Formats: sequence, C-alpha cells, structure tokens
Amino acid sequence: MKIGLIGYGKMGKAVERLSLQLGHEVLIGLDSIVDVAIDFTEPEAVKKTALALRLTKTPWVIGTTGWKKEEVLTIAREGEIPLLYGPNFSMGMAIFSRLAKIGGALMGDSYTKKGIDIHHAEKKDTPSGTALKLMEDIPGLSFESIRKGDHIGTHQVIFDSFEDSIEITHRAKDRDGFAKGAILAAEWLVGKEGIYTFDDFIEKRFICHFQEPLQPL
Ligand SMILES: NC(=O)c1ccc[n+]([C@@H]2O[C@H](COP(=O)([O-])OP(=O)(O)OC[C@H]3O[C@@H](n4cnc5c(N)ncnc54)[C@H](OP(=O)(O)O)[C@@H]3O)[C@@H](O)[C@H]2O)c1
Repeated sequence: MKIGLIGYGKMGKAVERLSLQLGHEVLIGLDSIVDVAIDFTEPEAVKKTALALRLTKTPWVIGTTGWKKEEVLTIAREGEIPLLYGPNFSMGMAIFSRLAKIGGALMGDSYTKKGIDIHHAEKKDTPSGTALKLMEDIPGLSFESIRKGDHIGTHQVIFDSFEDSIEITHRAKDRDGFAKGAILAAEWLVGKEGIYTFDDFIEKRFICHFQEPLQPL
C-alpha cells in the first residue's frame, strides 16, 4: 500500500518507520497519488487538507486532535472523501475506554468521577481529544489536564466514594501504539466509502465481526 504522510513530526516519523517495517511504501506530503493518507498535523491544518483531498478523494485517516469536526466532516461528506478519525489510535486505549465506560455505568451516582490527562508541554489541545471523548461517553466525568516535559500520554479515570476508590490508568510508553493503530485503520479504510470513527473500526474489525482479542499487528 502507498501511504501519504501529512505531517512529519513525532507521530509522522513513527508511522513512517512502522509502515516501512510492514512493507508499505511511504511518501511525505500530498503531492503524489497514494492509496491512503495518514494525518498527524495540527488542528488548523485539517480543513485545508480536506479541501485539497476533495479533488483526489484519497482515503484519509486523521489522528490529529482538536480540529473543527462539523466543518471538516461536511467537506468530507460532500466531497466523498473516505475518512476515519479518532483522538487515540492505541488498542490499549480502546480497551481502557470500554472499561471506563462500563465502570461509569455500573457506578452511577454513588461515586464521583474524575479524570486526569497528562501530556507533553507542546501539546496544542487541552483537555486532550481522548479526555473529551471519555467525558462524552461517561456522564458526570470531569477532567484535569497536566502538561509537562515530553510526557507521551497518560489518561486516568478515578471513581471515588466514601468507602473506596477505583482507578483505571492508560499510560502510553511510546508513540508506536498510536502509529500501529493508524496503519491498521488505514489498511481497513482503503476500498471503503463514508466516514468512520476509530471506534467504528475497532467494533467492526475486532469486536463484532471476528470476535478477536485486541492484539495489534
Ligand atoms: N490519534 C492519536 O492516536 C494521536 C496520537 C498522538 C498524537 N495525536 C495528535 O496528532 C497531532 C500531531 O502530533 P505530533 O506529536 O506528531 O506533533 P508534532 O511533532 O508537533 O508534529 C506535527 C507536524 O505537523 C506538521 N504540520 C503542521 N501543519 C501542517 C500542514 N498544514 N501540512 C503538513 N504538515 C503540517 C508540523 O510541521 P512544522 O513543524 O513544520 O510546522 C509537524 O511536523 C496532534 O494533534 C496530536 O494531538 C494523535
């Protein structure tokens, strides 16, 4: 598969290394014809890319967080750009968010629900896209964001009552987990039409269809 990288920063470089290991061809930028584009840039860049991809209808995997969803999804829908997006492409996070969601539903109002997201100091969006999604999925959950050093990404959800406390933590050890998820999602998106979230991909590829455990690559 020919993968076009949009954004050649920390994530772009990790996607390049793993894609080459998996036998894919990698081209940087949008100048060449590719089978799929993987986007790890910054929020302001995403709309411009959407407008450019209307011409080629290249399948587009957006890992970038913090962009204006309605605006970009409308361009993609009207421009018939196959699209998959998500704030966190790690398989471990897919498991973590499901555990947190089940916890939230089980505990109802008997526990307070608090989250913490810790990321590197350069991160542009606060709270993280993952934290926003968790707050959308778990009623009553609020998040505190900490930005420091070169921290790759930790999300913690704490359920607290007078009697006890339950804490669930996902800690990314490096960027490869996100990069692997982006490549798997890109492989899956090629040949499809429409707009998908990373969660749609996880449900269709791993959970509902094959009933496989979430073992990446
Ligand atoms: N979904 C996930 O699993 C996941 C995981 C990790 C990170 N992220 C998100 O991915 C994004 C990138 O993260 P990162 O750590 O790779 O950031 P980064 O190291 O700052 O890299 C961003 C890159 O995008 C480039 N860029 C900016 N605007 C561009 C444009 N219009 N066209 C092409 N390239 C452009 C930047 O180039 P210049 O330096 O030249 O400006 C830079 O190389 C962030 O939004 C982050 O939150 C998502």
